[in-house]
Amino acid sequence: MDSTKDIQSNEGKIIEAGGKKVAVYNDNGTLKAFSPMCTHLQCDVDWNVQDKTWDCPCHGSRFKATGEVLNGPAEKNLDSVELP
Ligand code: FES
Repeated sequence: MDSTKDIQSNEGKIIEAGGKKVAVYNDNGTLKAFSPMCTHLQCDVDWNVQDKTWDCPCHGSRFKATGEVLNGPAEKNLDSVELP
């Protein structure tokens, strides 16, 4: 699995940290970490390289790189988490 060092500026990746999957976005050098669990029905989101969004494969919810909802059915932003 990749570590935070492998995430280029303005890219996101699902990594494993502290035994858990974490969705990490490198916001111009500042790492922002989220639970990868979609806030609709808990599928794991994937990083969309082209659009720089977190997309849920289950029912199409999309989140900004910084975790805010772009498209439902999810209504809540991704949960922020602390990197260990
Ligand atoms: S679980 Fe993500 S859109 Fe339904």
